[in-house]
Amino acid sequence: MGTPEEGLAWQTAVWAEISDVYLREIDSRFAPVVKSTVKRAELRPDDVVLDIGTGTGSVALHAAALVGPSGSVTGIDISADMLELARGRARDAGTDNVTFLEGGAERIPASDSEFDAICSSLCFQYVIDRVAAATECSRVLKSGGRFVAAVWGGPDACDIVRFQATAGRFAPAPPVTGVGPGALGDATDFVAQLDSAGIAGRVEAETTPFENSRISMSRGRCSRVSRRRRCRESASKKRRPPFVTRCGRIPNRGARSSTRRSSLWARSGSRLIPASVGAPEPALGG
Ligand SMILES: C[S@@+](CC[C@H](N)C(=O)[O-])C[C@H]1O[C@@H](n2cnc3c(N)ncnc32)[C@H](O)[C@@H]1O
Repeated sequence: MGTPEEGLAWQTAVWAEISDVYLREIDSRFAPVVKSTVKRAELRPDDVVLDIGTGTGSVALHAAALVGPSGSVTGIDISADMLELARGRARDAGTDNVTFLEGGAERIPASDSEFDAICSSLCFQYVIDRVAAATECSRVLKSGGRFVAAVWGGPDACDIVRFQATAGRFAPAPPVTGVGPGALGDATDFVAQLDSAGIAGRVEAETTPFENSRISMSRGRCSRVSRRRRCRESASKKRRPPFVTRCGRIPNRGARSSTRRSSLWARSGSRLIPASVGAPEPALGG
């Protein structure tokens, strides 16, 4: 088992490696989760918002439009490569009330009580020290502030997690445990950690559509990667297979699918964790 520092270095390298493909192919697929996360935070003009694990900036840019010129959004991420793409998107969109900073959920580069709301889409399942992250979130949220985090459900509820579990068999084992796409499929412990830090929360399940219009290509890549892996394993135990983000069969329970189809809708279950700090729980939908 590696140290948290080794875990962070591994995480950072993984996200750096897939940053381009994330912007090009994955962002649009996760749009329903991003939209739902921002909606649940009930952002208002003037709000000061933090987006944790902003990646290529989808939540931050969406939030920036809602809070308007008198509000502001800060997007933080451990990956400089992801942040660079996020900055490019903000520039292209002419959005000037958003700032992207390098930083982690466990050490948020912000002062105490700075934010009206924290939004985070599909990041907390990758956070290595969630106790530290919960404490940091509580520190930077204003009293009465809102916290909304979307994480994937477990493999039984969420097709994409099953899909990635299959893909993960071809990838090297992470140096730390307890992180990965389905790591917060049961978010009970994380909700308790938030609670201990002063953020009272609950979990709500939501099913979002997930379109993979390149499923045939993913399958093709998968079979090529599996073949390469088998060849490599027999040739040399020393060489590691490449990191693979999309491969394997989608277990699409009832969704129409065949290797010939160019598009497929599968169900992806995401869990959203809306919470408030120092105030009664807000009435959020779902
Ligand atoms: C699946 S992407 C989500 C990106 C974006 N929020 C979205 O919904 O499209 C996960 C992001 O979390 C970031 N991340 C992972 N661990 C983190 C941590 N401890 N603190 C901040 N960001 C982290 C990764 O670098 C990556 O950009």
